[in-house]
Amino acid sequence: MEAAESILRINNIEVRYHEVILVLKGVSIVVPRGGIVALLGANGAGKSTTLKAISGLLKTEDGEVTDGAIEYEGSYIHHDHAANIARKGIVQVIEGRRVFEHLTVEENLKVGAHLRKTGSVKEGLELVYHYFPRLREKRNETAGLVSGGEQQMTVVGRALMTEPKLVLLDEPSMGLAPKLIHEIFRIINQLNQEQRISILLVEQNAKLALNVAPYAYVMETGRIVMDDTSDTLRENEDIKDFYLGLTDKGGRKSFRDVKHYKRRKRWLA
Ligand SMILES: Nc1ncnc2c1ncn2[C@@H]1O[C@H](COP(=O)(O)OP(=O)(O)OP(=O)(O)O)[C@@H](O)[C@H]1O
Ligand SMILES: [Mg+2]
Repeated sequence: MEAAESILRINNIEVRYHEVILVLKGVSIVVPRGGIVALLGANGAGKSTTLKAISGLLKTEDGEVTDGAIEYEGSYIHHDHAANIARKGIVQVIEGRRVFEHLTVEENLKVGAHLRKTGSVKEGLELVYHYFPRLREKRNETAGLVSGGEQQMTVVGRALMTEPKLVLLDEPSMGLAPKLIHEIFRIINQLNQEQRISILLVEQNAKLALNVAPYAYVMETGRIVMDDTSDTLRENEDIKDFYLGLTDKGGRKSFRDVKHYKRRKRWLA
């Protein structure tokens, strides 16, 4: 991990909302250039907050990085405005596939085009349609009326239109059928491999995330409690119990049952 050149280094950040609510309590994450890194964690752990701290969207929610630093391509961005950060090549695909419902699919894609530096809008659309042939078919349909999977493709496509270097993906699998999830993850993998886009992927679906990302971090209540290669994490008993649902009994254990995990958490905290 340390050996590879990094595109993003989050160094021990603290994040507060409304000056008083401490949500991130010392989070450090490294994304290698051209790599995919997963960030796993339960509801409310602080995953989306971490992504918003990077993209600058935090400021629109009266949140702030109050300690630590975020370094992107060698310069600090944690006090930058979201628009500046976007211009530098970071795009966040926010949770819940927010399309502009009344616009067509193609109009939604064009919204991402104003940040383009090199290629034309037409080239951008062609690239998106190359990766998401379904969107070409649906391009003139109202985005609010296409399927959930197609909306997710639309928001990822819109991000792609900005010619990003680093994509922050917040739970792309949420609420989608397994077949579509598989398709979207295959495309994410292709974008990484073929377009050399670096990706920080937030997921609650750990199995998927560990398959697509070679390295992952696990977050609990505002702290990173584990980070390792996905191969190692997949074999970790706590991860199996808690995130992969691969217990001996075959059932997914509740948080309370996973005792050694809780102990380790305390130890790491
Ligand atoms: N704008 C806000 N103002 C105050 N507190 C917030 C705000 N946004 C998030 N929080 C709090 O910060 C904590 C982390 O939230 P966050 O959305 O980052 O978690 P998450 O890991 O993305 O969860 P989920 O899996 O449910 O999306 C939660 O306790 C949440 O209530
Ligand atoms: Mg979230």
